[in-house]
Amino acid sequence: MKVQSASGLLTNGYVDPALVPQRVLPSGAKMPAIGLGTFGSDHVSPAEVAAAVESAAAVGYRHFDCASVYGNEHLIGYAFQQVLHSDIKREQLWVTSKLWNDKHGENDVIPSCRQSLADLRLNYLDLYLVHWPFPNFHAPGCDVTSRSQDAKPYVHTEFMRTWRKMEELVDLGLVRHIGTSNMTIPKLKLVLRDARIKPAVNEMELHPHFQQPELFEFVRSNGLVPVGYSPIGSPGRPQRDRTPEDSVPTKDPVIVKISNRLRLHPAVVCVKWAVQRGQVPIPFSTKRTHYLSNLEGAVSEPLTDFEMREIGSIDRNCRLIKGQVFLWKEGQSWEDLWDVNGEITPP
Ligand SMILES: NC(=O)c1ccc[n+]([C@@H]2O[C@H](COP(=O)([O-])OP(=O)(O)OC[C@H]3O[C@@H](n4cnc5c(N)ncnc54)[C@H](OP(=O)(O)O)[C@@H]3O)[C@@H](O)[C@H]2O)c1
Repeated sequence: MKVQSASGLLTNGYVDPALVPQRVLPSGAKMPAIGLGTFGSDHVSPAEVAAAVESAAAVGYRHFDCASVYGNEHLIGYAFQQVLHSDIKREQLWVTSKLWNDKHGENDVIPSCRQSLADLRLNYLDLYLVHWPFPNFHAPGCDVTSRSQDAKPYVHTEFMRTWRKMEELVDLGLVRHIGTSNMTIPKLKLVLRDARIKPAVNEMELHPHFQQPELFEFVRSNGLVPVGYSPIGSPGRPQRDRTPEDSVPTKDPVIVKISNRLRLHPAVVCVKWAVQRGQVPIPFSTKRTHYLSNLEGAVSEPLTDFEMREIGSIDRNCRLIKGQVFLWKEGQSWEDLWDVNGEITPP
């Protein structure tokens, strides 16, 4: 029976994946323009996330953003196994995973990817990302003051040694595409100059209060797809990623006004804006009504041009995931991680 859902769509709790917009990569591969995030933010258990993956596939999700550091790939693998025992085929899924920061060493990249594949119970990944450009380990669940003794800055020659191994993963057929995450324009310029296989995507924080217009345009104009993390403003993010200056995009009067017009949760307005702007949002949720309405938001009535312009005007340049734990020496501020002066911050 068809029922009126939170998004106002007539649905029986399923969105036909064929209706979900796709982003075409330079390889010709198609990536669903919305995915499910799987970072439990240190408080949602691996089992809950894995259950959400399985049931999100049942409501029509085909794209999943995973990472070894999220500590749940071994259970998400069981979820994928169940999904692939239904009538969904592997080639209909888009699965991303990420190389964690303590595995940038030349001898670590391929084994690390193989471990993610084993955990996820897959024989290839659609996309494998270098999670952060800094080879700096921090323990899951650590606080904002945590620093690695061996923390290092971005050193391009070292990053390219890691990247050569990422390229080898493509040659080996273990991954279909490789990409970057948490990069800046000056770092990406060097990678684009030196890569044999160019990054297919850059995953970056993107929401109405952090639109990163310059990086967004740079990424797109160089043929990369911008994948937007924390698209709702990450209300459940770990304590270490919270500061008093942080703003809340879902409380912005413009977002609230549009959500009232459409009778949607403000979170869904953020997702709609993201898809319509051309990035690929990967909202996290373990609540069926939430992840279903986010997916419905990607296929329902678009925002008006006026609304898109209104949201475009509420950018506050408010980065939420600042990355303090990756700082490599005393006396630095988190801005040093993000090359805010347009040049790579010197070591
Ligand atoms: N590459 C990177 O460095 C990086 C960094 C951060 C995140 N990521 C990826 O991006 C994903 C998403 O980012 P995020 O988890 O930080 O934040 P987010 O997706 O912006 O926010 C997730 C939060 O929003 C709530 N939510 C989701 N849909 C909702 C809805 N329709 N109505 C009301 N509330 C809703 C969820 O709560 P409920 O569970 O209660 O629905 C959850 O607390 C992560 O899971 C991860 O896969 C990548």
